[in-house]
Amino acid sequence: MPSQTPHQFVAVLDFGAQYGQLIARRVRDLHVYSQIVPCDIDAAELKAMGPAAIILSGGPASVYADDAPDVDSGVFELGVPVLGFCYGQQIMAARLGGAVGHTEKGEYGPATLVRDGASMLLSDTPAEQTVWMSHRDAVSRVPEGFRVTAHTETCAVAAMECPRRRLFATQFHPEVRHTAWGNKMLETFLFHICGLEPTWTMDNLVEELVGGIREQVGIGRVILALSGGVDSSVVAALVHRAVGEQLTCVFVNHGMLRKGEPELVEQVFRRQFDVPLVHVHAEERYVRLLCGVTDPEEKRRRIGSEFWKVFFEEAQKLDGVEFLAQGTIYPDIIESGARKTGGKASTIKSHHNLIPFPPGVHFDLIEPLDHLFKDEVRALGVALGLPEAMVYRQPFPGPGLAIRIIGEVTPEKLAILKDADAIVREELDAYNARLFDQTGERNSEHSCWQYFAVLPDIRSVGVMGDERTYARPVIVRAVESSDAMTADWAKLPYEVLGGISSRIVAEVAGVNRVVYDVTPKPPATIEWE
Ligand code: XMP
Repeated sequence: MPSQTPHQFVAVLDFGAQYGQLIARRVRDLHVYSQIVPCDIDAAELKAMGPAAIILSGGPASVYADDAPDVDSGVFELGVPVLGFCYGQQIMAARLGGAVGHTEKGEYGPATLVRDGASMLLSDTPAEQTVWMSHRDAVSRVPEGFRVTAHTETCAVAAMECPRRRLFATQFHPEVRHTAWGNKMLETFLFHICGLEPTWTMDNLVEELVGGIREQVGIGRVILALSGGVDSSVVAALVHRAVGEQLTCVFVNHGMLRKGEPELVEQVFRRQFDVPLVHVHAEERYVRLLCGVTDPEEKRRRIGSEFWKVFFEEAQKLDGVEFLAQGTIYPDIIESGARKTGGKASTIKSHHNLIPFPPGVHFDLIEPLDHLFKDEVRALGVALGLPEAMVYRQPFPGPGLAIRIIGEVTPEKLAILKDADAIVREELDAYNARLFDQTGERNSEHSCWQYFAVLPDIRSVGVMGDERTYARPVIVRAVESSDAMTADWAKLPYEVLGGISSRIVAEVAGVNRVVYDVTPKPPATIEWE
């Protein structure tokens, strides 16, 4: 549970890695707090959490498979309304005495749903409508007390309900946008069936989080490692709102940030918010640390461990600090499977925010964002008054520009890369802004998601004026993606690419050639190292 639990919440029981995330997002979009819990949670434990509604997610398994994820039947006896989707409908039917069988052919993609008689869940939706299906198994007999409320051509029980017990389910997925009336169904469930109020707003959230931090911290002192990234910046603004000067931010400037970023951190935190800020100039220390190192993983390792060394050196200079605030966010926790969610959203990568405390050093952690998705963190940042450049900062690797310089990192290469990268960002920020004006969407189909310059460890021949040059090329990388797991190279207009190229060769000394990376991920990665 989050340290600051809102009064009313929806528990999403997750029956398959990541299926619950989208549902939790949709519910929160309707201003009701929701939280993912493992599907096999004990009914008594779930009751103790006090959910106002329960949603059973879809999942990839067959209910009759040996290792099929299961649900405690007691969940249906709590008196709390339950809504199941897809696998959620099937497990509800199987546990309550109905039957599930294989359909003759599976149903994948859009399907026409036809309503059968009265339905609480489907009220206010048309008699025929498009829904999104993705299943092979389906309910073949509904449990006693249930009625079938809709079917499709291939699925006899596309929706079922038992209004007396407030149990509802659909074979289709109301949480995906392709189900035209899916949001309406969720609204009906949350607001009419469960009687919830749409009170989970940013203003309430700020108030709740601030109250929780004050309670946890009391008169104690808090330290925070500010990286210039979105999450640590939002935590800094939030903790500062809660406990003011009891917070000290330590900004370890390793010299690998992009042009203008250390200045932005200074501007926002020292001048706008007036936060006690220790700016550690570790640039030279890092150049020495990386001298002669060419292996990417070795660069990552050195930069990561040095960061915490520098940070704890500073932390130990401050008296009476008990707490360390961290920008851990919900996906970090879901993806790590490390704590709290457990269950089927299984371990994907180790919790990357684990802190290597030196021996004998301990702080209590404050992680106020640990139940927020990234876009909620951004919205919180805006509500707290952080500038857009910080809140909408594109993903940027912890080791920074060091892994965008192929081979050894030197001050000369860093200077070239920072200047070239600033031009790429300026030009593509402007391109994205033009698309935003045209489409009104921040991430429209062709907007770039991440874009930067890379400096390879080679030189090539060129000619400038009458002079032959032997100088460095710069690689431009710009990708479209939504989650960095896969990505495609951005189909930028030639004039945009041409503009970037001519500016870089004209404005950055030591560069005589610009190339564009046209490889998707996979097989390439987004970064070059
Ligand atoms: P790749 O290069 O693996 O990158 O396609 C996927 C996403 O992760 C970011 N990235 C990192 N982030 N530390 C980080 O914090 C790292 O070492 C690191 N390497 C890659 C990358 O920028 C992209 O968004």
